[in-house]
Amino acid sequence: MTQPIQGFSKFSKEEKINWLIDTYFQGNSEKVEFLKSYWHENSDVQQLHDEFIENTLTNYYLPFGIAPNFRINGKMVAIPMAIEESSVVAAASKAATFWLSRGGFSARVISTIKVGHVHFIWNGEDFRKLEAFVDGLQQRFLDATDHITANMRARGGGILSTRLVDKTEDEPNYYQLEARFDTVDSMGANFINSCLEAFAAVLKEEVHQFEGFSQPSDQELDVVMCILSNFTPECLVRAEVKCKVEDLKDGNVSGDEFARKFQRAINIANAEPYRAATHNKGIMNGIDAVVIATGNDFRAVEACAHSYAARTGRYKSLTQCTVENGEFCFYIEIPMALGVVGGLTSLHPMVKFSLELLGKPSASELMMIIASSGLAQNFGALRALVTTGIQKGHMKMHLLNILNQLGATEEEREHVKSYFEDKVVVHAEVVQYFCSLRGVTQAELHGK
Ligand code: MEV
Repeated sequence: MTQPIQGFSKFSKEEKINWLIDTYFQGNSEKVEFLKSYWHENSDVQQLHDEFIENTLTNYYLPFGIAPNFRINGKMVAIPMAIEESSVVAAASKAATFWLSRGGFSARVISTIKVGHVHFIWNGEDFRKLEAFVDGLQQRFLDATDHITANMRARGGGILSTRLVDKTEDEPNYYQLEARFDTVDSMGANFINSCLEAFAAVLKEEVHQFEGFSQPSDQELDVVMCILSNFTPECLVRAEVKCKVEDLKDGNVSGDEFARKFQRAINIANAEPYRAATHNKGIMNGIDAVVIATGNDFRAVEACAHSYAARTGRYKSLTQCTVENGEFCFYIEIPMALGVVGGLTSLHPMVKFSLELLGKPSASELMMIIASSGLAQNFGALRALVTTGIQKGHMKMHLLNILNQLGATEEEREHVKSYFEDKVVVHAEVVQYFCSLRGVTQAELHGK
């Protein structure tokens, strides 16, 4: 059995790699070279990457592409996407081009409020006393965070409000100090958490001084944790596309029929969580790719999107569609907490490039771009699903991936592509055809 390793984080990068390869790859030096081959040739750039996380050994590449032809609020945008899944960039580009001639995307930010909580237990019995205690601390909360909020206030943000929430119906003696924040162009996680910890210190300090607390149990206040919430339903953006129903005509499918089929697909996603999860996953294909390219926290965006999709108690579609008076309207309303300053945004070279490509947007502008990308992705997926089926487009990319795995030459690729032009792409059949084309057995192909 592998022995636990002590002090690994103190090892140099070289030592870490050697330990790993000795321990898990029988000291195979080719594996060392393999990891090193992904190091950046510029040592400054590599050092930057090394320092993003702990125990860095090398880099992990993701393809970076763009989906051009997005017209958002009248402005042409080429959207950067970092994603491993084939067809996502193609679908976004296709949907962007489709809507380009129909007015493009319009988007607006509904609100940008973020939330955090001091979760605490209070053993007193009279809620009104606790209310009076917290009400009396409002100025203390501001004073205690003055040094933390100074820069944010100068940029137009800061703490918007604090309030006491009684959660004792859900958990005995459980209360929250809920705070709302405007973090302007930063995602604001560190800012919010620092403010919350300062609020908690005030609560713990003042609980012993408050004259309104007469019973010993009134002074028993335990802070459980201080943390921002990744559910930010008030940090909300809307993006939409609209056109006359007749302008939706798609090949042999009339505009009316397309709108009917499309709307039914949305209705199904609203009615059926099994479908909603896949439907929303498609939306997140378009969202996460841009979130990653712009150095934002895709786990936070995912967590927020899915909790919002379930806000009514049933998990539903994040996009909706209306057909009224001959007009088709397709829209998304989705909360997302993004930053364009701080974090990776000024450090990661590709993130800086992406933000420059987007014209150095504010966080609100980025919310609108990303919501449009999610909407486009969903439009592309639903359009394919309710007309030709999804596999037609996917299969082309699937075939290319298989050919890459097989190490096909340019000539072989052309042969295989033309052979499968009118056939379903099945991995085993591609390999079989490829082997016959090359004149080798499958065992020979795999070097056995
Ligand atoms: C695949 O990554 C995404 C889709 O499954 C989305 C959908 O079904 O709507 C195509």
